[in-house]
Amino acid sequence: MIKMKNFERIIADQIAKVTQLNEEKLVTYIEIPKETKNGDYSFPCFRLAKELKKAPPIIANEIKEKLENDNISEIDKIDVVGGYLNFYINKETFVNEVLTEFANNQEYGKSNLGNNKNIVIDYSAPNIAKQFHIGHLRSTVIGGALYNIYKYLGYKVIGINHLGDYGTQFGKLIEGYKLWGEEYNIENDPINELTKIYIRINEACKEDKQVLENCRNNFKKLEEGDKYCGEVWQKFRNLSLKEFQKVYDLLGSKFDSWNGEAFYSDKMQEVIDILGSTGKLMESQGAQIINLEDKGINTPCIIEKSDGSTTYATRDLAAIMYRARTYDFDKALYVTSYEQVLHFKQIFEVAKLLGLDEKYTKGLEHISFGMVLLPTGKMSTREGNVVRLQDLINESITRAKEVIKSKNPDLENQDEVAKKVGIGAVIFNDLSSARIKDEVFDWDTILNFQGETGPYVQYTYVRTKSVLQKIGYIPNIEDVKVDNLLDEYSFEIIKLIYNFKNVLVQVTEKNEPSILAKYLIDLAKAYSGFYNENKIITDDKDVQNSRGYLTYVVGEILRIGANLLGIEMPEKM
Ligand code: ARG
Repeated sequence: MIKMKNFERIIADQIAKVTQLNEEKLVTYIEIPKETKNGDYSFPCFRLAKELKKAPPIIANEIKEKLENDNISEIDKIDVVGGYLNFYINKETFVNEVLTEFANNQEYGKSNLGNNKNIVIDYSAPNIAKQFHIGHLRSTVIGGALYNIYKYLGYKVIGINHLGDYGTQFGKLIEGYKLWGEEYNIENDPINELTKIYIRINEACKEDKQVLENCRNNFKKLEEGDKYCGEVWQKFRNLSLKEFQKVYDLLGSKFDSWNGEAFYSDKMQEVIDILGSTGKLMESQGAQIINLEDKGINTPCIIEKSDGSTTYATRDLAAIMYRARTYDFDKALYVTSYEQVLHFKQIFEVAKLLGLDEKYTKGLEHISFGMVLLPTGKMSTREGNVVRLQDLINESITRAKEVIKSKNPDLENQDEVAKKVGIGAVIFNDLSSARIKDEVFDWDTILNFQGETGPYVQYTYVRTKSVLQKIGYIPNIEDVKVDNLLDEYSFEIIKLIYNFKNVLVQVTEKNEPSILAKYLIDLAKAYSGFYNENKIITDDKDVQNSRGYLTYVVGEILRIGANLLGIEMPEKM
């Protein structure tokens, strides 16, 4: 296999020779100019001004002069613009390298970079007997994309669905079920029916202290392993999971572990004991807490409530210990909305008291994301403005089908295509902007075939397929004559192809799948430019084949990239 030249390295290496500065550092300064007229790579010399004690333009000119004397074969031209050095690389070499690299790899962009390091990703995690809502969708989609991309880069990934299947609310649900179970058809419509029971039992608790007492007792019994309570709990869990699975089936989500909060019920004592032995655990209003004020966190972490029951935090602490031991993780990522920022700050801080190797506590990271806003406001359980995820996805599929019908009425397999497009639109929408941003959910935007959307990426992919079909071209790198791909539009694409690997690495460095989503939009746009400006079908077979090959590569990368985001591609639409 031919190892592709790394142009950033070549440039950094040359600058290092001239300046005697460290190449590793220099390479991180190199930028890719936004506009092609500024070259293919640029180097901001102001970053060296301090060390070299010279003004950036002077540094730039000196480096330029020396490098030009060296006649570096990969570099065609060097320009100085202000304090910047702009490099124009030799296009023939570049195009040749990029396409050969592509042709030599079955799965372009795949690597062993991760060296089998263990990455735990905790994502999705809906709550039993509650609605799987749009916030969980974001977690499922972001976590799923990270899962795929880490794996593609050679990490060993463990996807965990830390289900909310524990807590005092189960004592209430059990009581409600005991009292009125017969009246509700929880087999048929578990989440809605259990929600009704939950609302009703809460009312009853308010009216009658004895009912509340019974609920508390149920939870205690559940913890102590009581048979009836355990069976009912299991039933709620199974029925809820069956419901959640419908969403996972639509999205294609998979998990390696379904150990939810309940799994840690017998693993919390150890946490409490260790924390007790550190002397940091203290009583406050009857509860056991860890004060974190000296760490700049003003809210204490509650380890045990005043009624003796454990908390969400304690279960997460037990989970950290368990995961460290079981998976020996290098990183443990938690994908939830930013509403849980405080929670994770607290537990990551308290985890340092558990006597774990530093490797583990350093590897903990909260991957927080913004809220999903309906045009009318926040979609959350608390405000009662809940959208059922299944309904939302199905609506997207229905709407996608309408668009497809109007655009391409004769298309075969419309249902199958609509499913890919509808789901792709929802997933892409969740990933297309920086995760921390709140997201406005708007049907017209997410399903716009011309917008920065999933359907646009899919549509461009389909277009590459139909171009190849029209010219009856079977891709073969041998057909490529590099000279035919040196125009501005082709070269733009070549540069993006080259950057694909880098983009995947950036996703893992920032845990930010939107970098890949944006890249796919850029690639699709670049292809549209190429398609509009360059005639692909021509009498010149060399030109046609070269452009055909580039078309093929674009399609493949769009497919690989979209698949990594969890989106399937239709072949026609
Ligand atoms: N079940 C929680 C929720 O719905 C999310 C759990 C996230 N994971 C964790 N280890 N705390 O908000």
